[in-house]
Amino acid sequence: MFKPPLPLRAETPAPWAEAALRDPEGLLSDHAHCEKKAALSALSLLHAFPGDARATTLLARLAEEELNHFRRVLEAMARFGWALRPDRGNAYAQGLLEIMDRDRKGRKDAEPLLDRLLIASLIEARSCERLHLLEQAATEHAQLDDAEWLAFLFELERCEAGHALGYRSLAEDRFGARMAPRLDWWLDREAELIQGLPWRSAVH
Ligand SMILES: [Fe+2]
Ligand SMILES: [Fe+2]
Repeated sequence: MFKPPLPLRAETPAPWAEAALRDPEGLLSDHAHCEKKAALSALSLLHAFPGDARATTLLARLAEEELNHFRRVLEAMARFGWALRPDRGNAYAQGLLEIMDRDRKGRKDAEPLLDRLLIASLIEARSCERLHLLEQAATEHAQLDDAEWLAFLFELERCEAGHALGYRSLAEDRFGARMAPRLDWWLDREAELIQGLPWRSAVH
C-alpha cells in the first residue's frame, strides 16, 4: 500500500486525479513550472547553510534533480504536442507561505528557516501523494497511458518522496528537538489548507 513520506493528515480523495486529468496539457504545464520553482527554491536555500558541506551537497543534488524533472516534463509535453502555458501561480505553496508570515508576526521565537524547510518537505510529500494518484489514473487516459510517461511519473513520485525526507533531515540537523513539534503543527495547517483549495488541473 502507498505511504506518503510524511504522515499527511488529509488524504487526497482518488476522484481528485480524474478532475486533474481533465486538462492534461494544463496539468503538465503547471507541473513544469512547479519543478522549475522547486529547483530555484533549493538553490535559494543554499544561502542559509554557508560552510555546511552536507547541506550544500544535498541542496545541490536536489536542485539538479528538480531541474532535470523540469526539462523532462517539457520534453514529455513536446512529445505529446503540448506547449508550456504561462505560470498560473500556486495557491497551495502561496498559502503555506502566508500561514508562515501570519504566524511569525509578533513572535520573538519565530524560526523562518525551520518553517521554510518544513514547508518544502510538505510540498514534496503532497506532490508525491498526488503523483501516485495521477499514476493510477493515467492508465485510464488514452493519451497518457504511455509506458515512458508512466515510468517517468513513478520516478518523479519516488524522487519527491526522497526530497521530502531530505528537507526534513536538514530541518532536524539544524534545529534538533525543535523540529518535531513544529512539523506536527505544520501537518495540521497543511491539512486545513489543502482541504480548502479547489481541485484544478494541477498537482496542488
Ligand atoms: Fe521534482
Ligand atoms: Fe522535489
